[in-house]
Amino acid sequence: MVVGKIKTLIFGAGGMLGTELCTVFPDAVKLKHRDLDIRDREKVIETIETNKPDVVINAAGYTAVDDCEENRELAFDINGAAPGYIAQGCKRAGAILVHYSTDYIFDGSKKEYVESDSPNPVNAYGSSKLAGEMNIIENMEDHRIVRTSWLYGAHGRNFVDTMLMLSGKMDKVKVVNDQFGKPTYTADLARKTKELVGLPAGVYHITNEGVCSWYEFASAIIKNTVQCTSDEFPRKARRPKYSVLVNTKTTPMRHWRDALAEYLKRNEAIQ
Ligand SMILES: NC(=O)c1ccc[n+]([C@@H]2O[C@H](COP(=O)([O-])OP(=O)(O)OC[C@H]3O[C@@H](n4cnc5c(N)ncnc54)[C@H](OP(=O)(O)O)[C@@H]3O)[C@@H](O)[C@H]2O)c1
Repeated sequence: MVVGKIKTLIFGAGGMLGTELCTVFPDAVKLKHRDLDIRDREKVIETIETNKPDVVINAAGYTAVDDCEENRELAFDINGAAPGYIAQGCKRAGAILVHYSTDYIFDGSKKEYVESDSPNPVNAYGSSKLAGEMNIIENMEDHRIVRTSWLYGAHGRNFVDTMLMLSGKMDKVKVVNDQFGKPTYTADLARKTKELVGLPAGVYHITNEGVCSWYEFASAIIKNTVQCTSDEFPRKARRPKYSVLVNTKTTPMRHWRDALAEYLKRNEAIQ
């Protein structure tokens, strides 16, 4: 498929990843939350059928991991049921669906996870995202389910910006050193998405390369960070200790340190 000539429709165009996708797919039909609520099944299907896209990209989601514990029903409606509606629309329109899922579908009892490993989420967010994967697979075949992790980028609240903000306000910023994953830059993931459209249907693990703890990640952003344990920093949602996604299906993206350097430079240029 010649990607430059295909018609693309993006749900969640106003989010952190969605905004980068809009740059990579400038001619796409771009739908933000205010334009359409993906929980509205009829409207989702009608929108896909009317626009007749070749590719639908769903970057919409309920991503506040701790809030999902208290708003479980909402999490399952947005992250679980709605991707199924989008898949139904894609099936009717003959479109490919690219959808983003998460490392948090795994329980962290293993150090690394390949695409075929069995999910076992430990929090409501992970459970709702897994339901979304299953609803897509049930409703259509030509999907690319992209599991990714620890996203940061322009246009959204994220760990890197939080560290920069806290660093200026606090003497020492405490960050956990017993959860491990792969930080991923949204600009890299958006560019990689274009390539994925041309690859076979299935589940993909797409992150920047390299593993670190949140503390190691923070140390690459600010100087005044100190390590602590997850027990010292309780959160509403449990997190997996290891949520390291291994990509066995496509070419790797660059190391997270190189991606971070570019993001920090881009940030500096804006200020
Ligand atoms: N952030 C991460 O670290 C991370 C890690 C792994 C996977 N992911 C996945 O990657 C995808 C993109 O994440 P992100 O970080 O870019 O998230 P984000 O910045 O929170 O963007 C999500 C977008 O979805 C919109 N949205 C929420 N509910 C909606 C609804 N009912 N109908 C339509 N739009 C709705 C939000 O709009 P409002 O803000 O107006 O509600 C927001 O613009 C998500 O599927 C997420 O689960 C993220």
